[in-house]
Amino acid sequence: MIRVHVPATAANLGPGFDCLGMALELYNVVEFSKIPRGLSIEVEGEGAGELACNEGNLVYRAAKRVFDRIGYKPDGLRIRLVNSIPVGRGLGSSASAVIGGIIAANMLCGAQLSKREILALACSMEGHPDNIAPALLGGLVIYAAVDDEITWTKINLPAGLKAVVAVPDFTLSTRDAREALPHMVTMRDAVFNIGRTALLVAALQKGDLSVLGTAMDDKLHQPFRVGLIPGYKKVVSAARLAGARGVALSGAGPAIIALADNNQELIAKVMKATFRECGVNARSLILAPSP
Ligand code: HSE
Repeated sequence: MIRVHVPATAANLGPGFDCLGMALELYNVVEFSKIPRGLSIEVEGEGAGELACNEGNLVYRAAKRVFDRIGYKPDGLRIRLVNSIPVGRGLGSSASAVIGGIIAANMLCGAQLSKREILALACSMEGHPDNIAPALLGGLVIYAAVDDEITWTKINLPAGLKAVVAVPDFTLSTRDAREALPHMVTMRDAVFNIGRTALLVAALQKGDLSVLGTAMDDKLHQPFRVGLIPGYKKVVSAARLAGARGVALSGAGPAIIALADNNQELIAKVMKATFRECGVNARSLILAPSP
């Protein structure tokens, strides 16, 4: 039996739209076993009863891409998914399914695909790299891709830094959240984000958390997504007041991520309570970065 653990991920972290993502210590487990014939898929935990248990399952679809590429046809396959990552909340549940399926299938076929090939295949399925890359590589991944050219680097995050994530009880599809975005941005807004992305990466690498409040600001996607998440601005302000160093949408949302080196319990409580005041039930998670 093959077992793969894939972490949750928070993409963008404010300014790094489609370029930055962080792996978090919350894992989905993907198990593959060979069986004499047929396909059997079981889902436990998050997404049980919602996610497809047939050939439409995303883990299976990702695995199938590997089997087709390598020319391998298993007689029969049993897939067991034990999920801890909330589905459709901005914590990379689909990236974890794609990466889990590709890695497990690759292991079943004798590990023929390289890390770079896995990354390229997974990105072609997901459409954007910023959850895929940290789901595969861990840490904070800075990723640049133009056409088939893929370049990335990874940094580990400062000790003691935690992500406090408020996870609303409604889903928001990435497709809908991307449709809210403009096709063009101004040079002024592009420069705003470039400066902050550079500041954020340097600050996290040096452990200089004092600049995160500015560094996690953004003009390319969050202003256009605010209307999709009731309470967003109030939750961000409340988290900052409670001691968060920087706060942003987690990926395309609706979850909100606050980075903090202190007061994490208080920040978690305040974010959840503020969502509630705005009519949204939310749970909060305190997660360490996954190396
Ligand atoms: N960068 C992507 C977006 C992440 O913001 O649309 C989706 O999780």
